[in-house]
Amino acid sequence: MRTKKPEIHLGLEGIYMAETSICSVNGIEGKLYYRGYSIEELAKHSDFEEVCFLLLNGYLPKEKEFLSFKDALVKERDLDPEVLQVITDTAGKGLPMDVLRTAVSLSAIYDPDVKDNSKEANMRKSIRLISKISSIVAAIGRVRDGEEYVRPEKKLGHVENFLYMLNGEKPSESERRMLDIMFVLHAEHSSNASTFSTIVTGATLSDIYSAITSGIGTLKGPLHGGADEAALRMMRAIGKPENTVKYINDALAGKQRIMGFGHRVYKAYDPRARIIRGYLEELREHASPEVENLTAIALEAEKLMIKKLGKAKGIWPNVDFFSGPVYTHIGIPSSLFTPLFAASRVPGWCAHMLEYWENNRLIRPLEYYTGKTNVKYISMTKR
Ligand code: ACO
Repeated sequence: MRTKKPEIHLGLEGIYMAETSICSVNGIEGKLYYRGYSIEELAKHSDFEEVCFLLLNGYLPKEKEFLSFKDALVKERDLDPEVLQVITDTAGKGLPMDVLRTAVSLSAIYDPDVKDNSKEANMRKSIRLISKISSIVAAIGRVRDGEEYVRPEKKLGHVENFLYMLNGEKPSESERRMLDIMFVLHAEHSSNASTFSTIVTGATLSDIYSAITSGIGTLKGPLHGGADEAALRMMRAIGKPENTVKYINDALAGKQRIMGFGHRVYKAYDPRARIIRGYLEELREHASPEVENLTAIALEAEKLMIKKLGKAKGIWPNVDFFSGPVYTHIGIPSSLFTPLFAASRVPGWCAHMLEYWENNRLIRPLEYYTGKTNVKYISMTKR
């Protein structure tokens, strides 16, 4: 029996699914807050480890608790030999996000708390996931370069250690700081697609590894976390700044989407993109000719897109647009952009999972059925 057609919210647009105190996004004014702190304040004064603590615990740590939090992260950095073996066997041929998703899923088996779903165990598992996922991404990068795994270095901070494990040498202070800011900017963003799928999985009372594995699978898509790599691919395809206008105009005329622009919530300039753009302008002075060229193309594309679609349609640069030139400047290959996004988003995913479990309810939306009913079964020979 067909019921009256309900109002359908395609893509669940405009639907509130829970209360949260983790993150607030004001899409009209282009503002973003983690636990009440503006993203500008955090990018300027904080660092990734402190932001992880803030997201997971709800407040900024005092010195002693911060030291013990950082110590817990350091202790979890190294990879289980079985997980490392799978990365070694697959990262040369597999897509990095597929290898990452598999390695994270496999890591559950070696987690000492795997059967414990208590709040305390989930906090320990969150710390483990934040720590290990960066090491997994570094290991994937090493294998893809035909290099050996580099063991973590205890004395280094989280992001510095990531770059050390990726490159086999310590980064410069400016590379470390720039990547740390990128980690801070990507750490959390309310109920975006990957956080939502994380919560959907966790809300069945599955476990946090399954939930984060779902989040990684969701982040992979080019409409979400995969847009940073796609945007850089476009800049490379444009080739020279003077080709930008024609390339973009042709793409828009052909109804193509320009990756790194537009957002379901922001109908203003994404504040994260604004911060990244600022750093990109700053680093131009010391940039290689490749990065300078990419920056010039990006700024040309931004100007045209804002003129054509900014105010008219609310399509502005998002966090993924300027990331490519910055990561390229730091020496990170484009194949690792989305895995790196995942490594920085883990604290946000975990914070949401811990919060949602405080007031858990299975997520189960409805679909309005438009197919046939009471169809008579016909045996195969008579079809
Ligand atoms: N380039 C050109 N046109 C665009 C773009 C874009 N990047 N984004 C949206 N539009 C247009 C659509 O074609 C549509 O036009 P129409 O009304 O004439 O049909 C209109 O804007 C609305 O688009 P929707 O798809 O309905 O908007 P939605 O809220 O679903 O899209 C999304 C959000 C998926 C992010 C979209 O803007 C997009 O595809 N952007 C490119 C991919 C991207 O950069 N993703 C990263 C987002 S940030 C993140 O996830 C970390």
